Amino acid sequence: KYEKWWLILGVGTLIAFLLILGYGAFYLGTHPQSHGITIDPEKIDAEESFKPENLGLTKVDEGQYVLNVVASAFNYDLGTDEEGKPVKHIQIPKGSTVLVQAVTPDVIHGFNIAGTNANMMVEPGFISSMEVTLNKPGEYTLLCNEYCGSGHHMMFATVEVT
Ligand code: CUA
Repeated sequence: KYEKWWLILGVGTLIAFLLILGYGAFYLGTHPQSHGITIDPEKIDAEESFKPENLGLTKVDEGQYVLNVVASAFNYDLGTDEEGKPVKHIQIPKGSTVLVQAVTPDVIHGFNIAGTNANMMVEPGFISSMEVTLNKPGEYTLLCNEYCGSGHHMMFATVEVT
């Protein structure tokens, strides 16, 4: 009689395990809002993208960059500079193509480079990505446009198109 219960328990455990695996694969999936990506995906490793050393702007090819960002309450992590200080200012050569990839470990944040079409939502469990080309030189503000808590207004960085 007991064997039957062990069997049910075993099958139940297996199903739970498969569900967890499925969720894991889902986590690394790309958010449906990504569109128009022209940068060769072979050059970007989604799992590697958000390691501390890979945050910020990285050149992948002539005129092609990847910008990896971890948005969290209440900060944009863009990596650190040579002195180990957090990067809060990014310089992008005008006319280059930038693939922005962003994740968040906590709540929904926004990613908006004010005055440009770089605008997307960053949701827990997804990699939000979009490709942008900034043609107009100048200084722009990267800001969070989704209310995320008391420090929402402190989430910003500057982007300089040169
Ligand atoms: Cu993050 Cu508002």
